[in-house]
Amino acid sequence: MTMTVKTLTGSYPVLIQRRALARAGELFRLDRRVLVVTDDGVPASYARAVASACRDALVVTLPRGEGTKNLDSFRALLSTMAEKGFTRTDCVTAVGGGVVGDLAGFVASAYMRGVDFYNVPTTLLAQVDSSIGGKVAVDLMGYKNLVGAFYPPRAVLIDPDTLDTLSDRQFACGLAEAIKTALIRDAALFDRIEKGDPRRDAEEIIAASLAVKKAVVEADEKEGGVRKILNFGHTIAHAIESETDFGLLHGECVALGMIPFCGESVRPRLIGVLKKAGLPTTLSWEGDALVEAMRRDKKKQGDAITVVRVDTIGDCRLVEMPFDQLERIVRGVKL
Ligand SMILES: NC(=O)c1ccc[n+]([C@@H]2O[C@H](COP(=O)([O-])OP(=O)(O)OC[C@H]3O[C@@H](n4cnc5c(N)ncnc54)[C@H](O)[C@@H]3O)[C@@H](O)[C@H]2O)c1
Repeated sequence: MTMTVKTLTGSYPVLIQRRALARAGELFRLDRRVLVVTDDGVPASYARAVASACRDALVVTLPRGEGTKNLDSFRALLSTMAEKGFTRTDCVTAVGGGVVGDLAGFVASAYMRGVDFYNVPTTLLAQVDSSIGGKVAVDLMGYKNLVGAFYPPRAVLIDPDTLDTLSDRQFACGLAEAIKTALIRDAALFDRIEKGDPRRDAEEIIAASLAVKKAVVEADEKEGGVRKILNFGHTIAHAIESETDFGLLHGECVALGMIPFCGESVRPRLIGVLKKAGLPTTLSWEGDALVEAMRRDKKKQGDAITVVRVDTIGDCRLVEMPFDQLERIVRGVKL
């Protein structure tokens, strides 16, 4: 299927289809110089498939991991484009997860004040979440996404078959974001994840998740209002994540972060779905360590904390909360 995402200045197509990787040349305008950005954890055949559809491709393979999403990589990619004589009418294509997409998109937004950007997300997280919405960024001084822009892609190509090579742990992390999306806006999607086989149903899960994200980002492109509901589960996820010693991935922190902010009737079903997905539902931190982590994270979040609550599956509300109330909720739900 193809969906079209509207932006303030135009729109872009998102193709979601098994074996779509072979169709990059149909969806993207690749009869020009194309910087194909990927990382060394992504099977090289995916970038090669895109490159083979280009008239003149330059594939750059970066080291995998969040550590690559920084200003050094940003500068290196821009320098490569300048050295190789890329012009304003050339383009950048990301082939990889959210790290590659965020970085390559930011490079595209900056080179000669903006060249066309195409995205081929290959992790479930990038396919259900980061590939649309136009947020591109790099990390700086330990702060995630501190430097970035809103820069929508020209087109997005999602081939669920690329998930065949994705580890179960990374797959589960993407599923955590799909579960989040289902809880805030789509009860039928929650049922599908709860009852079905998510690897088999990946195409439908991606399409349903993106339909919600599309509706939300179209209503609020620059995160002034309703887009905040996409942060469900993220308030304490950030605090857990910032304690990197614990080695949890983002999606795993989101899984944990949703549990305290849903109603009593929702919580058992959520925990069941998370367990089935292989996501954590308990955090073996001592005593008040989580509240301590939240206090440290509070410096980044500020005092006025908007929390997203889900009391009915498929529905949510935004609640302004003083920090001590947030602390009480988190203490009240033993993770
Ligand atoms: N822009 C947004 O709106 C938005 C939203 C959510 C997250 N993000 C960002 O996304 C990033 C996380 O993205 P991610 O979870 O995709 O992580 P990631 O990009 O680091 O990918 C995870 C791992 O999977 C590997 N990989 C990618 N595709 C693969 C495949 N098909 N088969 C096998 N291995 C594969 C990668 O090499 C990497 O090692 C973070 O930087 C986060 O800030 C952005």
